[in-house]
Amino acid sequence: MVIHNSSSSLAETLLHRRQRLASLINFPVILWSGYSNPRNFPANAFPFRASSHFLYFAGLPLPNAAIRLESGKLELFMDNPEPSSALWHGEMPKREEIAAAIGADVARTMSELKHRGRDAASIPVQNYRTTLIQSQILQREISSPSHLEGLDQELAKAIATLRLTHDTGALIELRKAAAVSVEAHKAGMSATPKAKLEAAVRAAMEGVIIAHNMTTSYNSIVTVHGEVLHNEAYHHPLQPGDLLLADVGAETPMGWAADITRTWPVSGKFSPTQRDVYDIVLAAHDACIATISPGVEYQDLHLLAATVIAEGLVNLGILQGNPEDLVDMDAHTLFFPHGIGHLLGLDVHDMEDLGDLAGYEAGRKRSDRFGLGYLRLNRPLKSGMLVTIEPGFYQVPAILNDANNREKYQNIVNWERLSQFADVRGIRIEDDVLVTDDSSEVLTLELPTQANAVEDFLNSH
Ligand code: GLY
Ligand code: MN
Ligand code: MN
Repeated sequence: MVIHNSSSSLAETLLHRRQRLASLINFPVILWSGYSNPRNFPANAFPFRASSHFLYFAGLPLPNAAIRLESGKLELFMDNPEPSSALWHGEMPKREEIAAAIGADVARTMSELKHRGRDAASIPVQNYRTTLIQSQILQREISSPSHLEGLDQELAKAIATLRLTHDTGALIELRKAAAVSVEAHKAGMSATPKAKLEAAVRAAMEGVIIAHNMTTSYNSIVTVHGEVLHNEAYHHPLQPGDLLLADVGAETPMGWAADITRTWPVSGKFSPTQRDVYDIVLAAHDACIATISPGVEYQDLHLLAATVIAEGLVNLGILQGNPEDLVDMDAHTLFFPHGIGHLLGLDVHDMEDLGDLAGYEAGRKRSDRFGLGYLRLNRPLKSGMLVTIEPGFYQVPAILNDANNREKYQNIVNWERLSQFADVRGIRIEDDVLVTDDSSEVLTLELPTQANAVEDFLNSH
């Protein structure tokens, strides 16, 4: 754990966050970072990732630590390493140094937390061992983060209100994650001509992220089978006629995420069918981004993308009908089954540990319509929110071969025409878009999206 020299601005950022929290709630809060889990012996642990709610207020990824917040005051609880640890892990910063870096008022041992939990609210960490300790300290059962009650629920609402829009400190980190992710994608494109397997492109992309001392913010998707939405296999060979879909994002050491997808032709040139569909997905992407500004309903962006895709597929002769009617009957979901995107922040799909508390405006519920039910964000946009825009087109066998769909859309889909697009299994184009006071800023703009620009990049690197 390194304490950076910009720690005075970190302390200021954290002070501002807890002051804002104190303006929303008037009860004490304890947040745990979580325990690092051993694989087979204590010193061989799985990679540690601190809870994002902890990170938001504590700033640093401290394993096995807790903070107590009350009326804007910050107390840090953590144990100093055992003396023997220095042999294996070197000298680590002491509790007091860490407390100074994050602007904590007091630094205490973990055992001092014992009698401080009775009136406090908390959010469970998704780690069984930590949840047990949380229950002991709070002296009550603590339920799942997506079904909180009482003060815990009030706390979750307050935190969601704060984390929904990003402060200056967060935006500095989010821009770093975006910039490194752009470089990772460029490296992936550059590595493609010589790569034999998907794994080689993944390695080139993650290599850039690791070289910046960052990690990935989710398991990378680098696949010629883009129709498998969250494909985490990397063993397929790259063939000249394939499209490669890469959904890879970096996470800064303080935990802030990026989330980018590009889809490019392995050969360096889209086939005519691939190009036709790519341009439809890009038109949906561009139309959404051009529409983003405060007050716009995110669900309307989703429906805009759906309409642009439906219209494009009608023009290609794949769908038949009026685009608006096709969207009303969910025909677009045959090819675009997921939502247009989600919140981005300390997590990809930010705050989804809280269920839909952050993503959905109070009083709104998930739709039971196919496709719309996967919409993860349904609120009016606000300045300072960071969202992804990620339309796609996929030929998912489980959807297209489903007997009910075949029957329902028998006269809507021109199945014979569709069969001419067999070399388009999955296309997604995803960027990270900050809502500004009057429109938006694409944090990942440096990475080309236009088909010609993608081809030019592939052929010139
Ligand atoms: N990388 C996961 C997503 O785009 O939502
Ligand atoms: Mn995404
Ligand atoms: Mn993604």
